[in-house]
Amino acid sequence: MLFLKSRRQLSTVRSRGAKPAWLLHLISEELLTDEDINVFSTQLTDLKLVGKLTDAAIGNNNRGIYSVAGTFEGRRGEDLLVKAMDLRAADNWSEVRVLKILGELVASGVFRDTERRLKWKGPKGGGSVPVIVMEKKPGVLIEKTEAYRKASKKVQKEMVAQVRDLMCAEVADIAVTTGVYHDDNHKDNALVELNGTKVLSVEVIDWGGSVYVVGRASKGEIARYCIEVWNRLYN
Ligand SMILES: Nc1ncnc2c1ncn2[C@@H]1O[C@H](COP(=O)(O)OP(=O)(O)OP(=O)(O)O)[C@@H](O)[C@H]1O
Ligand SMILES: [Mg+2]
Repeated sequence: MLFLKSRRQLSTVRSRGAKPAWLLHLISEELLTDEDINVFSTQLTDLKLVGKLTDAAIGNNNRGIYSVAGTFEGRRGEDLLVKAMDLRAADNWSEVRVLKILGELVASGVFRDTERRLKWKGPKGGGSVPVIVMEKKPGVLIEKTEAYRKASKKVQKEMVAQVRDLMCAEVADIAVTTGVYHDDNHKDNALVELNGTKVLSVEVIDWGGSVYVVGRASKGEIARYCIEVWNRLYN
């Protein structure tokens, strides 16, 4: 049996230390607007899926990440991906709201799985599922790279520390420019670009975890907090 942690429970785990004053509240705790209520009401009739994204980590809180066939709403399918949402999660709307703020949302709605592309344990496909179509970010998960897999334990640790520092810098940058703080920072939510064992850049993904509204804070403060939480949880 799968036990889903609510975002509120997750955020309690993360912020067991002192929660800074600039971390105002979770997006999912805000009042739903009519727009939020309706984000999964449109049928996405033109959406065709290819199959499950092969290098995606298995999600606990969604029903898989899929590639898009052909084109969708004038965009090349290869530049997009689809996140099939867990039917039991009441706050799926908050990921759509955040992606909208970030300018990474392409569409959200209901996908009718007539070709039975969706794979998950439980009742067989063929039904209707809420989905989010979003921009596909460049990069790969560090654990999937040859450089990481072939590295010694010591070098792997150093590579992960580089991911942490670059991810937290990026998260801080996004926080001050958009007003939302990504509070789900670990190596499975970072797509990296490497040169040997040096991490050149990190793209932050997964806005379905806990995301906070941010008050007044500097980039440095936010990055430091992000690193502190990472160290507390993953070191
Ligand atoms: N925007 C994106 N661009 C490229 N790859 C992505 C993107 N979003 C997700 N992925 C891939 O899919 C995997 C799982 O996605 P994601 O992290 O959003 O969901 P999750 O952790 O499974 O679930 P949850 O939303 O419940 O936390 C990622 O580790 C990554 O490999
Ligand atoms: Mg994730």
